[in-house]
Amino acid sequence: MFTIKNHLEVKNNHLLIGGADTTALAEQYGTPLYVTNETRVVENFSAYRNAFPKADIYYAAKANGSFAIMRILARQGAGADVFSYGELYMALLAGIPREKILFNGNSKTDFELQKAVELGVKVSVDSKDELRTLSEIAERTGKAAEIAFRVNPDVSTPTHPKISTGLRISKFGIPAEEVIDTYREASELPGIAPCGIHCHIGSQILDTEPFVEATQKMMDLVEGVVELGINLKFVDMGSGLGIPYKKGEKTPKPQDLANAILPVFNDRTKALGISPKLILEPGRYIVADTTLLLTRVNTVKIAAKNFVGVDAGFNLLIRPTMYDSYHHVVVANKASSPPEETYTIVGPICETGDIFAKDRELPRVEKGDLIALLDTGAYGFSMSSQYNGRPRCAEVLVKDGESDVIRSAEGIEDLMAKQRLPARLM
Ligand code: LLP
Repeated sequence: MFTIKNHLEVKNNHLLIGGADTTALAEQYGTPLYVTNETRVVENFSAYRNAFPKADIYYAAKANGSFAIMRILARQGAGADVFSYGELYMALLAGIPREKILFNGNSKTDFELQKAVELGVKVSVDSKDELRTLSEIAERTGKAAEIAFRVNPDVSTPTHPKISTGLRISKFGIPAEEVIDTYREASELPGIAPCGIHCHIGSQILDTEPFVEATQKMMDLVEGVVELGINLKFVDMGSGLGIPYKKGEKTPKPQDLANAILPVFNDRTKALGISPKLILEPGRYIVADTTLLLTRVNTVKIAAKNFVGVDAGFNLLIRPTMYDSYHHVVVANKASSPPEETYTIVGPICETGDIFAKDRELPRVEKGDLIALLDTGAYGFSMSSQYNGRPRCAEVLVKDGESDVIRSAEGIEDLMAKQRLPARLM
């Protein structure tokens, strides 16, 4: 037995996750199949908690909204960053206390704002329109709305442009230079209790420097807000810590992030004589490397490239198509065989961009082999669709060699579930 990447092991040429043989899981549950290792979820969450013992860790539900995963994290004491009423509902149902939930979003509906106030969760306000709507709702319902403002800190991040969120031109947040005025307005509005400040600069960031810059800029703003006489109970620095998708890639860990930003946060809050709670909102780091997408080889075609056609498509994992993301590939039933050939792994979707991995050195691949796409726990299933008439696959949770279905596979009936024919087409 040897370790291939983090918690993933190889035994008798087969890839194992959480002590379970992936080839057996594929036989038992069918493919495609998402498989998550519960122990690894807990390990990753603990790494954050240990690096930031005084902070609150709000799991970013968008990364992986599976109810079982939310439940595991709720039991670990996680809070939640939610971006819709759906995520809010799931987080509460999973047992995350309302005091540890922040409702984020740049374009919330009035219904969502109403729900946030009714359920008593904090709201990260992204615009003045939203602020005024919240004030009306708070007045109407007689419940104060606890808010933070999402700040656009204008920090550039070395990541894919589609997941950089703190640039000046980004749609998120209130421009830094308007923030103080916005707090002033908020403190005068009925029903509004400004009690925090929030930012998020992007995702899959592989350097701590942008986080330090964001912390400094946020603390400058905190100073201005405190001067207004506002009691800031929390400073939420969002998330964005990347993970090593490529084998051997060196990336900062939560402890490196803590070493980089805590001195700034602690010094500045001490100088101001305040003690707000630090909140962090990791998604990717907690779940990305916990999960594999298992997919069966339908066909191997030797053409301009050696194409391996598998049974999962970008309807199940859109990251490579959308962000040119790299996911490590293992032939799960030949996991310790030496590489022999270069292959491009493609899905069955009717689009040229339906490519999971280009030009990978792998053992000889044949029809019926099992491919594992690694590090697919974040923004994998949660971004899935039924494109091309493809029901979504099942999700399985493993722990110490045992497995349970945590989401059953959709069937053809799910493609039709919500569709209706007008009478004239009957
Ligand atoms: N907080 C806020 C306000 C966010 O917008 C996000 C992610 C997070 C926290 C969590 O960030 P993380 O720890 O996961 O980096 N679909 C893309 C990533 C989109 C990230 C959106 N916001 C991907 O697959 O790479």
